[in-house]
Parts: sequence; C-alpha cells; structure tokens
Amino acid sequence: VNALLETADCLHVGLGPRSYDIIVGEGLIKRAGSEISSRLPHRRAAIVSDETVYRLYGTTLLQSLTAAGMAAAAVTLPPGEATKDFAHLSRLCEDLLAQRIERSTLLIALGGGVVGDIAGFAAGILLRGIDFVQVPTTLLAQVDSAVGGKTGINATAGKNLIGLFHQPRLVLADVASLTTLPLRQLRAGYAEVVKYGLINDAAFFAWLEDNGEALLAGDAKARRQAVLTSCRAKAEIVERDEREAGERALLNLGHTFGHALEAATGFGDDLLHGEAVAFGMVLAFALSARLGLCPRSDAERVRCHLASVGLPTRFGDLVSRPWDAHRLVALMQHDKKVKEGRLTFVLVRGIGRAFLSCDVPPAAVTRLLKEMIEEKV
Ligand SMILES: NC(=O)c1ccc[n+]([C@@H]2O[C@H](COP(=O)([O-])OP(=O)(O)OC[C@H]3O[C@@H](n4cnc5c(N)ncnc54)[C@H](O)[C@@H]3O)[C@@H](O)[C@H]2O)c1
Ligand SMILES: [Zn+2]
Repeated sequence: VNALLETADCLHVGLGPRSYDIIVGEGLIKRAGSEISSRLPHRRAAIVSDETVYRLYGTTLLQSLTAAGMAAAAVTLPPGEATKDFAHLSRLCEDLLAQRIERSTLLIALGGGVVGDIAGFAAGILLRGIDFVQVPTTLLAQVDSAVGGKTGINATAGKNLIGLFHQPRLVLADVASLTTLPLRQLRAGYAEVVKYGLINDAAFFAWLEDNGEALLAGDAKARRQAVLTSCRAKAEIVERDEREAGERALLNLGHTFGHALEAATGFGDDLLHGEAVAFGMVLAFALSARLGLCPRSDAERVRCHLASVGLPTRFGDLVSRPWDAHRLVALMQHDKKVKEGRLTFVLVRGIGRAFLSCDVPPAAVTRLLKEMIEEKV
C-alpha cells in the first residue's frame, strides 16, 4: 500500500521553453515541497487558494514547502465563480506585492479551476510574469483547467473574456484530494473526463462505461487512471495547438451549448459548468445525428452513460425554467468561439470522432432545442 502511495505517474507537456511535467498520484500535496524543489530552482513561494481548500490542505502544503527549505506565505480568496473578477484580481495582486514577491518567487495555485485561472492570470501579469505551479484539487481542474496555460477572469460580457496564455511550470494532481470533494462537483468534473473519450478516444469512453461508477464512488485506481488519460489527451492536443489556432477547439465539445445553458442560468449553482457540458455534449451528438453525420445509436449511448452517473441529459433535469430555444441560440452567438458571426460547433461522426464545423445552420439548432425543450425527443 505504501509503495502505491509513493508512486506517481509523470507526463510531459512538450512546448519548447514552456515545457513542463504533470505528476498524477496520491499524497502529492504532502510531498509538494520535495516534488517542487527537485524540479524547480525557486526558494520562495506564495500560495494562492480559496478559503475552503486552504482550510483542508493549506497547512499540509505550507509545511511540506517549509520542510523542503522553501519560504512560503499564503493568500486566500472566497470560493466560487464570482471570485474570477477584476476586484479580486486587483486585491490578489496587491496582497502578493505587499508580501514583497520577487521575479523569482513561485506562485502556487492550490484549488479548483477558479483559483487556477485567477492565480495563473496574476502570475502572468505580476512583475511582467512570474512562474507558477498548479496544484488542482477538483476533478475538473485535474483533468482540464490546470493543464494548457489558459488563465483569466470573467467580464460582464461573458466568461473568461479577460486573460492570457501562461503555462504553469509544473502540475501536481493529487487524486487523494478528491476524497473531500462534494459528489456534485466530482460528477461535474467527470463530464470533462467523458469529453476526452468522445473527442478522439472511443476505447477510453468504453472504459468509462465500465469504470465510471467506481470512479465516482471513490475507487482511487480508477480516478488515477482517468486523470492520467485525460491529462495525456489534453497535453497532446495542447502540444500541437497551444494557442487554439485549430485543433485545440475540439476541447470545446459540448461547450457552445453548455455556455449558453450556463449563461441562461446565470453562471450560478443552478447549473455547474461540467453539468452544462454534459448536457451540451448530449446536444452536440443529437445535432450531429440529425444532420446525418453520426449514428443515432452513438448519440443514445452517450446520453445513457451520462444519465447513468447522474448528469443532466434533458431539459427536465435542469432547475431553471422556462427555456427558450431562440434565446439559447442568441446566447451561443455571443460565445467567444464565434468567428465572423458564424456559429462554430464541435460536431461528431460518432464516439471518438469529433470535428470542427463552422457552417451549422442556426435554424437546425433552434429546431433541435425547441423539440428537446418540449421533450418531443
Ligand atoms: N483554464 C482552463 O483551461 C479552464 C478549463 C475548464 C474550466 N475552467 C474554469 O474552471 C472553473 C471551474 O473550476 P472548478 O469546477 O474546479 O470550480 P471551483 O474552483 O469553483 O471549485 C469548486 C468548489 O469546490 C471546492 N473545492 C475545491 N477543491 C476541493 C476539495 N478537494 N475538497 C473540497 N472542496 C473543494 C471549492 O472551494 C469550490 O467551492 C471555471 O471558472 C471555469 O471557467 C478553466
Ligand atoms: Zn469545460
């Protein structure tokens, strides 16, 4: 058992001078000091976390850094999506500067995607850019947001509209931290795991059909395997297309629909991002099937699996109502992924066969949504 606890898998993200490792294992927060100091030269660190995560893991991380001979201090933010704004970014930067951080100080983002996004952004702009490490503590952050270098905050006009690409120097994904994560958050992150299977890895989707339930129930081996496979999938895409000139956009499978659903529900607790993505992927498959691109049986298989783990797969599963198809399509047209006003979608030819399409007729989308809202399909 101890041997298993001490082992960890290591992936490499090859981005030339911006390359870094992703370590996936158990107990990594406890060992963060040695993991970091054996790879990076920094002698000083500033931890950024949210209050909930800091209460759970802050002291462990701090002690581990100190034991490895690193000086460390911490800044905490309130938990929740509302933290990703200019006011909190400003305060975070001022607090870090008040701690007299230097160019050589390592910023450590300890938390979910909210912390990773705002702390990564702060690292990108403080002193014209300092190094940072991601220590993701949600499934969503471990399989998605901590890898790839997208950082930022939200604007009134939409989510993640202000930010920059700033790659971390290291990612430490401690799957043991998922034991304290509420089931609903775990499920939401699971939707992004399923996404990788649906994009280009049908065998992984089949594996999830067999192991998803165990993963959600707490099976550490399944969790580790899923995080590793997801990170590898994301790393490969990011290596080929760091700044989303093309292929990286496939990672938005389910997100055009998902973001519209999130916007319609006010980006709050009614619908978590991963929940919106789950339903969004169901819609992307349904649309693809309607357009004659994808077998209906694949669309049904996707819906079945997501529903079986308790993710929303129909409008009836969502809290906010009434729904309006025209409003949702209008919201999609405001998405960041819109190019010259045209709706860009990730569509599928089947499970594991996603592709980008920039000529989806809005009328087909409206019709599909209308029928789904009326539960005719
Ligand atoms: N940068 C990217 O590439 C990228 C990709 C996907 C999502 N995102 C962003 O990620 C954010 C969502 O991230 P998230 O789902 O991790 O949400 P989150 O950071 O808000 O975390 C969810 C909740 O779980 C709590 N929590 C975190 N870890 C915990 C743990 N181990 N135990 C108990 N509670 C814990 C947090 O305090 C919070 O209340 C969104 O803002 C989204 O835009 C970014
Ligand atoms: Zn997402």
